[in-house]
Amino acid sequence: MLDQIRALKQAIATYTITTSEELEAFRLEFLSKKGRVQSMFKTLGSVPKEERGEVGKLMNETKQLAQHRFDEAKEVLENTVDVKKSATDDITLPPPAPVIGSLHPLTQTLQDMKNIFYRLGFTIAEGPEVEDDFHNFTALNFPPNHPARDEQDTFFIRKSDDEDVMDLVLRTHTSPVQIRLMENATPPIRSIMPGRVYRNEAVSPKSYFLFHQVEALYVDTNVSVADLKETLITFIKLMYGSDVKYRLRPGFFPFTEPSLELDIWWGSEKNGKWLEILGSGMVDPNVFEASGIDSKKYTGFAWGMGVERICILKYGIDDIRTFYENDIRFLEQFN
Ligand code: DAH
Repeated sequence: MLDQIRALKQAIATYTITTSEELEAFRLEFLSKKGRVQSMFKTLGSVPKEERGEVGKLMNETKQLAQHRFDEAKEVLENTVDVKKSATDDITLPPPAPVIGSLHPLTQTLQDMKNIFYRLGFTIAEGPEVEDDFHNFTALNFPPNHPARDEQDTFFIRKSDDEDVMDLVLRTHTSPVQIRLMENATPPIRSIMPGRVYRNEAVSPKSYFLFHQVEALYVDTNVSVADLKETLITFIKLMYGSDVKYRLRPGFFPFTEPSLELDIWWGSEKNGKWLEILGSGMVDPNVFEASGIDSKKYTGFAWGMGVERICILKYGIDDIRTFYENDIRFLEQFN
């Protein structure tokens, strides 16, 4: 009798319980109503009285052991991953990467541009988004009441008929930062001026009332059109790769003479089109004079480019509005 109980105790002590299925099997075999522990107690009645003390004690120990093993295994299982259950997961794999955001495609493009100009030795300058008429137009050689002022679809903040009160506008381009820079520096000047600009245009896939430009200005003695071309071409090759297809066209801006526009070929060899990405030119002497720079001593070039345009070309985006909608499905493509 005692040997049978010892064998049962041994079986309980050595039973492997590593999964919840094994735990349940253990419970059924030993602890349930029809389990081996209960059956063992049923035999106690047939044990001779003088042995009952010893047998009963061993039976109780056996029952306690079974309960203890059950409780212990249950707790362990509750606090650990069930390896067999998650057999389809490879537990040696690294944990899934945490979900993190990414820089907006315009920010990424702007950073690429800044890095290139940094390599070319340009510093970065910024100016206000609410500008006065003088910096946004007059100093840039826009004649008074020139239609160009309307062509730029200006958002006026303050418009006054009193000549002593300066009109205030949301800047229509980053070119006024050139003026502010020249007012406060002596050449040589080599700077880029990134920022937001505003135009009162109807919203469409091609235009938006807000966009970004990067202005560039280089002023020194003996700066020539050749320097302008060389710098422009270096920039676009660093931006788009050395096999980029481009063309320079004559253009017109009140603040440069001569003026050049740069187009980039977008699409395949056969099926593509020219897209203008920037306007540029040699700084008009009138602009130097308005900013306090000696136009007899210095020459310089300037250009202004659209960040959206450059980003659109780089990634093949076909709707400018997507930049401002904050649609995660769009933004996630630039991780
Ligand atoms: N400000 C012009 C625009 O917004 C772009 C531009 C053209 C800037 C020629 C320049 C320049 O500095 O030289 O359309």
